[in-house]
Amino acid sequence: MQGSGYGKAILIGDHFVVHGARGIALGIPKKTTVTVERAASLRFLFECGDMLKEATRRILKKVAGNTDYEVSMESELQPSAGMGWSASYSVALARAGAKAAGKELTRRQAADAAFEGEKVFHGNPSGIDNTLAAFGGVMLFEKGKEAEPLKVEGDFHFVIANSGKKGTTKELVEKVSLLKQREPTLFGEMMEEEDKIVGGAVTALGEGNAGKLGELMNENHALLEELGLSTPIIDDIRRIALENGALGAKITGAGGGGVCIRSARMRPWTC
Ligand code: MEV
Repeated sequence: MQGSGYGKAILIGDHFVVHGARGIALGIPKKTTVTVERAASLRFLFECGDMLKEATRRILKKVAGNTDYEVSMESELQPSAGMGWSASYSVALARAGAKAAGKELTRRQAADAAFEGEKVFHGNPSGIDNTLAAFGGVMLFEKGKEAEPLKVEGDFHFVIANSGKKGTTKELVEKVSLLKQREPTLFGEMMEEEDKIVGGAVTALGEGNAGKLGELMNENHALLEELGLSTPIIDDIRRIALENGALGAKITGAGGGGVCIRSARMRPWTC
């Protein structure tokens, strides 16, 4: 039995969503496909570490009631690159495991089952990645609430550049939580600023205003930089993108490596 899940790109709100701020994310048309077959015990037909094994056990238990499956996987996404590989795997596995147990999950059920895996991968996930992996589209996300599809007017073009360096989401999420504990007032002010950026981005998307969206992406990047999540390579990618006509550019995902997303119009930017 087979299931699949999308990748995602966070447009605004990376990390702040973990602490309850609103965020905006896009499903991207690259997916992970998981196949499961009944077996005497849990077996993997690809190389994987302890975290993935534990996430797989939890998801299969939730959707199929047991873990006696042979699991294989193919992905168009790169792990630890900020494009939601772990969530796409978790959603794909939830769908495949449920089918093997004779059930078809709704998108909400697939997102919820995948959240069990995301807890293993991220430690304290917001739920944004597994929501986008299950629903796709362009979503306004807030932890604990149903995500809302956003109205998008006209065409927006985004280019995602991979820094080639891997970031560890769990460690980066912990790092931001420590900063929050150390500087609660400053972090609170940053959360308020981030929420205003989200409000502005909802309007910019609804009005087809790519220039404004680009400015807001830059403002969001400045907050992420203040949290220590950028890297020299990401700084270079941003600089080159902005010098070559990108309307805005920011880290997307956990940072510390991973990918950078740029808003482009007129001159699509390739790398
Ligand atoms: C990781 O793709 C996104 C983070 O905001 C973590 C999360 O929301 O779970 C860094």
